[in-house]
Amino acid sequence: MTVNVEIDGEIAIVTIENPPVNALSGTVRQRLLALADALDGDPNVRAVVLTGAGKLFVAGADIAEFDRPPEPPFLPDVVARIEAAAKPWIAAIRGAALGGGLELALGCRFRVATASARFALPEINLGIIPGAGGTQRLPRVVGVTEAIRIVAENHSPDGREALRLGLVDTLVDEPLVPGAVAFARAVVGQALSPTSIERVVPAPAANVWTEAEARITASARGAAAPPQALQALKHGIEHGVEAGLALERSTFLALRATEEAAALRHLFFAERAALRPAELRALSPRPIETVGVVGGGTMGSGIAAALLNAGLSIVLIEQDEASVLRARSTLAGLFESSRRRGLMSDEVASEWMARLETSIGYGAAERCDLVIEAVFEDLAVKRSVFAELGRVCRPDAIHATNTSYIDPRLIADGLPGPERFLGLHFFSPAQVMKLLEIVPTPDTALDVLATGYDLARRLGKVPVRSGICDGFIGNRILRSYRTEAEALVCGGVDIAAVDAAMRAFGFAMGPFEMQDMAGLDIAYLYREAARARGMPVPDMPGDLLVRAGRKGQKTGGGWYDYAADDRRPKTSMDAQRIIAPLVGAKKEMAGEAIVSRLMATMAEEGHAILAEGIALGAADIDLVEVHGYGFPRKRGGPMFQAGRLGKT
Ligand code: 3HC
Ligand code: NAI
Repeated sequence: MTVNVEIDGEIAIVTIENPPVNALSGTVRQRLLALADALDGDPNVRAVVLTGAGKLFVAGADIAEFDRPPEPPFLPDVVARIEAAAKPWIAAIRGAALGGGLELALGCRFRVATASARFALPEINLGIIPGAGGTQRLPRVVGVTEAIRIVAENHSPDGREALRLGLVDTLVDEPLVPGAVAFARAVVGQALSPTSIERVVPAPAANVWTEAEARITASARGAAAPPQALQALKHGIEHGVEAGLALERSTFLALRATEEAAALRHLFFAERAALRPAELRALSPRPIETVGVVGGGTMGSGIAAALLNAGLSIVLIEQDEASVLRARSTLAGLFESSRRRGLMSDEVASEWMARLETSIGYGAAERCDLVIEAVFEDLAVKRSVFAELGRVCRPDAIHATNTSYIDPRLIADGLPGPERFLGLHFFSPAQVMKLLEIVPTPDTALDVLATGYDLARRLGKVPVRSGICDGFIGNRILRSYRTEAEALVCGGVDIAAVDAAMRAFGFAMGPFEMQDMAGLDIAYLYREAARARGMPVPDMPGDLLVRAGRKGQKTGGGWYDYAADDRRPKTSMDAQRIIAPLVGAKKEMAGEAIVSRLMATMAEEGHAILAEGIALGAADIDLVEVHGYGFPRKRGGPMFQAGRLGKT
């Protein structure tokens, strides 16, 4: 049974039990509709308590159904039927009431909740807007200003705030259901208060709409749903509930069918699947509380910040006093900038710094459950670090390398504890970027691998397992993307046209702007090393630029010129002159053609990666691109794009 009924005197208790998250599947909707009729017809029942089994109320519509046409009964009709019930329905909420779950609760005459309950309309994250009256009932219950924040800006009040907003009528302690039944008994026989939809809400001052429109359009960065959610809300306030509900539903259905919404759903399920790979589900991760980080440069400092953020204690090991001071000051700078932006209080900042120990020499690694190495990208240096760690660390401590390109098997070769060794490849800035490539060697024990996943979860990262190859999943695709972008330039396409096309597609930066920001020299040195090994790597325009001293923004120019203190790229005649020997006759190419060429290249490399077993699934490749390389979320990733093209 997906919805159970129990009778307690005059009160019916309706429990939605549809694990794991009580989603409002077709069966749940049917059963709720039938129950609303049956309970209205039952003379012994005078009120209905509606709750969810387990840890949460209802996580919303069943997102897995969204790839099919909607099937009746539709959720708006279920909500309307409950709202029209002859007897009061009381939603009893613990945990999350999200999306359609909150809309269902809004259809009830009353809402009671625990203080830690959480209320949200997260539909915009799936490229849609609420589709069962949320944009209409919520403003009538909490007022327009608060409703805007919840509907279009992802604000998510807890039980206490919901009580203040009038979204819940009272807070109850656990056990929830007896408290809700007592509330129901108290309202039985009282004159029914207006339903959510019957309430009258004053129209806000005109500037509330204009300011919200400006704010939401700016933060949506091209995403369709947030401004349209606001529009539906506004329409209902200005033209009445009926018109509002009609616009909400038609917008919901139209957005649900878009490519953008399909892409966001694809990522929703991929992100969840990534956290719990089937083969590791039965394993217990090793306990990790104190983590050593060796190397406090760009990556080591970022990794330390991410670990501190997650409440772990850190021992940061550097090679000399100057490097320790530099790492400390980098971390203090990161905290200071969070503090300035109001993201961290002074107390939290000092508590974090108290969990940070710095050291020269390896003695302190003795206390570490895990040590992550982030020293120079040099095999000998890395091996010497792990040799030291092998001498000092406990025999059960896990050792991880953050190498970008070096084969982890070579790093671990011959060192003690190969089963405790793996790659944990963070992305820069490591305290921000969500991707964590997890790279086991053939010797890595499964519980060590499971610990890598558990760490990712604790850090709020998206873990993706990668096999061993040059660049792992992400840098390997990046290389083919950049090479193809340079091939377009060699074919006569304008540098700025390539960047503009990729920006229009949704990247924050095009490939050449990105190279200028990150520096052209790393890829250049990589190619030079390959050439030194006798590999036939032809000169690329980027090589000519580096040889001419144009390494990107840090040298005042790369593909573009930059004025001092201005990161906006300007067309560079110098750069064009330098690369001219490799560039063919000027060629106009439409933005869409540029995008499809670069997408095809990424997908082709992705297919090779899959065929070699480097990635376990196409969705993993999409997660790598979205969470490590700024691939636009609304496009779902290169493999998603390739799959959609295959279907059209
Ligand atoms: N529909 C279908 N499956 C869902 C789901 C939903 N609404 N929400 C979660 N799931 C699935 C997940 O895919 C996962 O499946 P898996 O075990 O096979 O991987 C499982 O439920 C557990 O989910 P999480 O791993 O995310 O569990 P957590 O405990 O970490 O989080 C949660 C629980 C906070 C409820 C989180 O899952 C969540 O935020 N869910 C989505 C909520 C949402 O976006 N709701 C709006 C839906 S759209 C809507 O309601 C339209 C309406 O307006 C008409
Ligand atoms: P970096 O040069 O900024 O920092 C390296 C740090 O290691 C320096 O502070 C140095 O003093 C320290 N160090 C060197 N030898 C040491 C030793 N024996 N003991 C203790 N400390 C030592 O380098 P970065 O960029 O932080 O890279 C570190 C590693 O992370 C490299 O393997 C790199 O390939 C990888 N990586 C880099 C990324 C990036 O975007 N910079 C992204 C992902 C991985």
